[in-house]
Amino acid sequence: MIITSLLQVKHRDHTGLHMRELTMSVKSLDVIVEGRRSQPQQLIEVLQDVQDLCGYIPRESMITVSKELGVPLIEVYRVASFYKAFSLVPSGKHVITVCLGTACHVRGARRMVDQVAGQLGVSPGGTTSDGLFTVECVNCLGACALGPVVVLDGVYYDKMTPRKLSRLIDSVRAADSEGRANA
Ligand code: FES
Repeated sequence: MIITSLLQVKHRDHTGLHMRELTMSVKSLDVIVEGRRSQPQQLIEVLQDVQDLCGYIPRESMITVSKELGVPLIEVYRVASFYKAFSLVPSGKHVITVCLGTACHVRGARRMVDQVAGQLGVSPGGTTSDGLFTVECVNCLGACALGPVVVLDGVYYDKMTPRKLSRLIDSVRAADSEGRANA
């Protein structure tokens, strides 16, 4: 069965300041649901694949997933909004995750949040206006002895300090600018 609806994906333009609209291939979603149609129990796996593909769960994809798996749209939305692994809005190009769990908290993790807020001008859950960084907080990253822990794009940085975090952010910005200049 061919999915007939086009999926409009709002995607941040990594070159900078503008949002552009991409049309995600119908085929991509078709491939994701292939072999899982009419299988409601596959909902989380399907949403995970959509998240991996798009970086978030576009509204239009929830409608398609609902139809293809035979899951009420409200249930698709409930699951997509319940799990932290899913996002309903596009993320920035780089994701900074600050641990605010107890072990990191007592070692000053809150200062990392303050550093990010001061340097990037965004609160946890926010994305910078240029789409470069998304900042999020979690309750434990499983490396409590090494706190405060910050994760940048999946890479763990232990015993973090505001100064180290500032340098890390600056280095990512510089690398991004350089990459764009050489593109
Ligand atoms: S509390 Fe931060 S890694 Fe566990």
